[in-house]
Amino acid sequence: MNRVDGKIAIVTGGARGLGAASAHRLAEAGARIVLTDQRAELGEETAQAIIAAGGEAIFAPHDAASEDDWSRIVALAKSHFGGIDVLVNNAGIGTGGRIDKMALEDWRHLMSINMEGVFLGMKHAIPELRERAHLWEGGGSIINISSIMGFIGDVGSTAYCASKGGVRIGTKAAALECAKLGFNIRVNSVHPGYIETEGLQSAMRAIARSSGDEAKEAARQDMIKATPIGRLGRPGDIANGVLFLASDDSSFITGTELVIDGGYLAQ
Ligand SMILES: NC(=O)c1ccc[n+]([C@@H]2O[C@H](COP(=O)([O-])OP(=O)(O)OC[C@H]3O[C@@H](n4cnc5c(N)ncnc54)[C@H](O)[C@@H]3O)[C@@H](O)[C@H]2O)c1
Repeated sequence: MNRVDGKIAIVTGGARGLGAASAHRLAEAGARIVLTDQRAELGEETAQAIIAAGGEAIFAPHDAASEDDWSRIVALAKSHFGGIDVLVNNAGIGTGGRIDKMALEDWRHLMSINMEGVFLGMKHAIPELRERAHLWEGGGSIINISSIMGFIGDVGSTAYCASKGGVRIGTKAAALECAKLGFNIRVNSVHPGYIETEGLQSAMRAIARSSGDEAKEAARQDMIKATPIGRLGRPGDIANGVLFLASDDSSFITGTELVIDGGYLAQ
């Protein structure tokens, strides 16, 4: 049996990387996908690839930092598929910058996506998730993509670490609220380690640039060395965790952190 048969899932930042992999995996397991992203052309291509593989998906352009956009996305999920059962708040950026050099507008831009985007997604999806939560043993499910950097600090990443730490704790508060108010919605965070995506490639380029003579490949090797399992993660490694939290296999799991990092945080 497919693990999320009939569920309706919004996946933000779904055009590529972890969002695209999660959308594909959820669709393979029977979910209907509202795929959103700022990159309209690539997002449309990803949705078409899901459909070509036998899944159900619709793409909608979306700035996860815009409240108006969220109202539109939630309305689309309702009109096109009939509601929402799963929300994957995946859209995020990783702009780096030393604290003493970072412009306030860059800090705010990152927070507007990584933190406010998650808040807005939960705020607008919760009423719809409540409507359909009785249909599933595990109720509705919100999955917020944080990072290993939501647990630890990193040089040149204060804004990113602060945003992902905020997502981690905000997830717990939202989980308690949803449980204690009887909403029948579970809220959990996922914490990827170094996973090979375009997003990580940009981070490698930035690291290589900031340390001058270091090439991007050296940055990549450092990330592999820092990962006990001895390889970078694959987007599918994260998608498997997202599927688990979306499915009723995780019915009794809320307010927790699913770390998928090849052992990085165990050190
Ligand atoms: N790849 C990793 O190693 C890694 C590790 C830890 C956490 N993460 C987190 O996982 C998530 C996905 O990362 P990824 O590596 O797939 O990144 P990515 O850059 O490859 O993909 C992110 C997607 O989000 C979209 N996006 C960015 N800003 C948006 C906005 N305002 N509204 C809508 N869409 C927007 C981008 O267009 C892109 O398609 C992010 O939240 C990231 O912080 C990634």
